[in-house]
Amino acid sequence: MRFKIYSIFLTVFLLLFLIVSPTLAIAEEMTDGAEIFTVHCVGCHPNGNNIIRRGKNLKMRALKRNKVDTLDAVINIVTYGKNNMSAYKGKLTKDEIKTVSEYVLDQARNNWRNP
Ligand code: HEC
Repeated sequence: MRFKIYSIFLTVFLLLFLIVSPTLAIAEEMTDGAEIFTVHCVGCHPNGNNIIRRGKNLKMRALKRNKVDTLDAVINIVTYGKNNMSAYKGKLTKDEIKTVSEYVLDQARNNWRNP
């Protein structure tokens, strides 16, 4: 009898874990890009703008015009910097650079309306 109750508990627990853990993983990945952006980029790029060079903002139209609308191009500018934007090589890992670049493109596609 006891054993039965335990195994029911265990099954329920395992099921819950299986349901919850992938959701947590996704949520974490989504905040990661936003978090990196908030810490490292938002000072010059609030809401996808550019407070130093207005035309070089992170909205899709500007990214297209300046040919920075692919993941590789964004990764490149974040890694090596450009003019008044410093390089993040050494400050962020390769993975972090990729994550934040994906976030920038995602936001650009949504016109910076994501939470
Ligand atoms: C010190 C201010 C500053 C910070 C911090 C900064 N940037 Fe920039 N960013 C700039 C400037 C200035 C430019 C324009 C560079 C140029 O002359 O083309 C730029 C350009 C860009 C561009 C190209 C935009 C376009 O339309 O050409 C991208 C993408 C970008 N930044 C992403 C980022 C990301 C991601 C971060 C954080 C990891 C970041 N920036 C942090 C100042 C900054």
